[in-house]
Amino acid sequence: MSATISPEKTLHYPVLLNDVINIITPQNGGTFIDCTFGQGGYSKKILEFPNTKVIAVDRDKNSFQIASDLKKSFKDRFSFHNIKFSQIKDLKIDDEIKGIVFDLGYSLSQIKDLSRGLSFDSKCELNMKMGLNDFSAKDVINKLDQKELEQIFKYFGDEKNSKLISKKIVFERQKKNLDTQDLVHLVKRAKKKYYTKTNPATKVFQALRIFVNKEINELTKGLKESANIVSQNGIILTVSFHSLEDKICKFFFNHLTKQDKVSRYLPEKKSTKMSFSLITKKPIVPSSRELEINPPSRSAKLRAIKKIGIYENDKNVFLKFNNLLNIEKISKKL
Ligand SMILES: C[S@@+](CC[C@H](N)C(=O)[O-])C[C@H]1O[C@@H](n2cnc3c(N)ncnc32)[C@H](O)[C@@H]1O
Repeated sequence: MSATISPEKTLHYPVLLNDVINIITPQNGGTFIDCTFGQGGYSKKILEFPNTKVIAVDRDKNSFQIASDLKKSFKDRFSFHNIKFSQIKDLKIDDEIKGIVFDLGYSLSQIKDLSRGLSFDSKCELNMKMGLNDFSAKDVINKLDQKELEQIFKYFGDEKNSKLISKKIVFERQKKNLDTQDLVHLVKRAKKKYYTKTNPATKVFQALRIFVNKEINELTKGLKESANIVSQNGIILTVSFHSLEDKICKFFFNHLTKQDKVSRYLPEKKSTKMSFSLITKKPIVPSSRELEINPPSRSAKLRAIKKIGIYENDKNVFLKFNNLLNIEKISKKL
């Protein structure tokens, strides 16, 4: 069966859908967890194959509508849970899980919804919440101190002018609460010299979105839980859209699939920790045809691993990312 969804027929074009389907192989049936249901592109495609089931998760309650339509068509083969994917261990799962997919980032409908303040065109309050959040970008910009803002922009956005921008924010917010347009213009003024085609506020917006949605904490927990939940020969697959996400997926997948070498002169010895094998030695990226149809897919990177042994939970696996996890903890102040 072809795995193509026409972009004309759907609002959100599911990124790298053919590759996802080829890797998780719903053609042979089985139960899958779609951790980022969104507009249901992946779930719908999986359910087209007989003898499949989908357990779908999304933190955005706006996914309910599409989910309830799918429920009507597929009944017991489909369930939807409005939770964060860091919480998937709380799902009551009786079936063997053949595949767990994460299509990270935002759906087109979330970006187009100007009230979320994800787009530079938004005239609304700063928001950036995906769903099930404790605070918004408005709280971050108007309440955190200069040093904290600087850390967020520097580490989550790789913004070179993070100090100057934070200083200007703290100065300007004394006059009024800053909204989305205030922030866009403030960053533009702070970065007098910019030569890129992209909006000068791109990195600041990315940093705020990651912080508001605690994306680092979500992803590290979600991946760890998946490694426990997925069955033998099951697949964990991620599609990431920014370098921090990809770095975390790549690191975790390498960690689970690495082989210890006793000596470089001796044959490779399988580590007792090796519980997964790598399916994608290099990430899969969209073809030129897909880029033409769906330009927002340009930064997508697909990685996947297969469970081949017993996974021993390693609490400290993400120690390397502790500095980022600690920055997200600043939000306890809000
Ligand atoms: C790129 S969209 C997924 C699109 C989907 N594959 C499709 O084809 O329609 C990402 C979705 O993941 C959701 N999401 C992001 N982070 C999440 C998290 N930590 N827990 C649950 N859902 C999350 C977002 O709300 C959004 O709807």
